[in-house]
Amino acid sequence: MPGLIERYRDRLPFAPGDPVVSLQEGSTPLVPAPQLSERVGAQVWLKVEGANPTGSFKDRGMTCAVSAAVREGATAVICASTGNTAASAAAYAARAQITGAVIVPEGKIATGKLAQALMHGARVIALRGNFDQALELVRELSANHPIALVNSVNPFRLEGQKTASFEILDEIGPIDALCIPVGNAGNITAYWKGFQEMGSAPRMHGFQAAGAAPLVSGQRVEHPETVASAIRIGNPARWEEAMTAMRDSRGGVEAVSDAQILDAYRFLAAREGVFCEPASAASVAGLLVHGAPEGARRIVCVLTGHGLKDPQVALEQSGSVVPCEPDIAAVERAVLG
Ligand code: F0G
Repeated sequence: MPGLIERYRDRLPFAPGDPVVSLQEGSTPLVPAPQLSERVGAQVWLKVEGANPTGSFKDRGMTCAVSAAVREGATAVICASTGNTAASAAAYAARAQITGAVIVPEGKIATGKLAQALMHGARVIALRGNFDQALELVRELSANHPIALVNSVNPFRLEGQKTASFEILDEIGPIDALCIPVGNAGNITAYWKGFQEMGSAPRMHGFQAAGAAPLVSGQRVEHPETVASAIRIGNPARWEEAMTAMRDSRGGVEAVSDAQILDAYRFLAAREGVFCEPASAASVAGLLVHGAPEGARRIVCVLTGHGLKDPQVALEQSGSVVPCEPDIAAVERAVLG
C-alpha cells in the first residue's frame, strides 16, 4: 500500500509534486474481536495502530508534519513526548535526512520507544520534569528558533491522523461508537475531524487513566501518574477540541483505573491475540467497564501502540517461564505437566 499522503491526497493539504516523507504508514488492520464482542454484546473491531512502521498511530501525523516541514525548508524538527511521538519523529527525521530532537520525561518512557528514538539518531533529551513541562518548553524553543514543532499542536499532525477514520469507513462503513485513549487529546480530535469530513458522526468515547484524567475532572493534574506512561499527561493541548468532539458526537469521557487498564491489556493479548501497549488498552478497559454505549451495535476500539513498545510492563503482567533440563523426561514434564 502507498503511504497516507499518496492514498488520500485529495483530502489532505498536499499538492501533487510536494515533497513526501513516508514510510508507507497507515492501512492498518481492523481486526474483529469476537471475545470482546461477546462480553459487551455488540460487534467490536480493533484498529491495530501498532502495525504502523514505528509501532504507533503517530506515524500518520508524522508523515504529514515532516513532509510539510520539509516543504517549508526546515532542517530540524522537535517534539515533547511520552515516547511514541519521539520514536516517530526520530524515524521520519532520519528518513528526511534532517535533524530530530525529542524531549522526554526522564525515566518515564517505555524502553522500546527510547531505543527507537536513539537508533534513529535523534538527540534525546531526558527532562527532569513531566510531559506537560516538556511541551511548554518545546513550544517556547520552537517559537525562538527555526525548528519545526511536530507535536499535535501542529495542524498537519491532525490532518494525517484523521485518515484512520477514512480507513474505518472505507472498510466497514458507518459505526455507532469509537472508543479511544486520550492523553494530549490530538488523536480524538483528529478522528472526529475525519469522520465529520466524510459526513459520519459516531459517538466519540474517550478514556483517560484515573491518575491522569484532567478532561474527566475538568481540572489540570499537576502530577499525573499511571502505568500507561504514554498518556501520563495532566494538561492536554487539544483540551477544548476534544471536549467539543465528545459533546457534539453525544459521546463522553471517563476514567479507567490502572488495574482496569491492565486487565484489558492482558485480556486482549491472551484472548484476542492482539498485543498492544498499556495506554492503548484504556479504550478497551473503558468499553469493558462502562459497557457498550446505549444502542451502539458496531464499535471500534483504537489500539494506539504496539505491545512490544513496553516489554517491562508486559513481563511484570505475565506468567513466568518454565525452567527445564535438556532431557526428554524433563521436557515432557515441563510441557505436559
Ligand atoms: N496511546 C498512545 C500509545 C500514545 O502514545 C498516546 C500519546 C495516546 C494514546 C494519546 O493520544 O495524545 O493524541 O490523546 N502519546 C503522545 C506521545 C503524547 O508523546 O507519544 P493523544
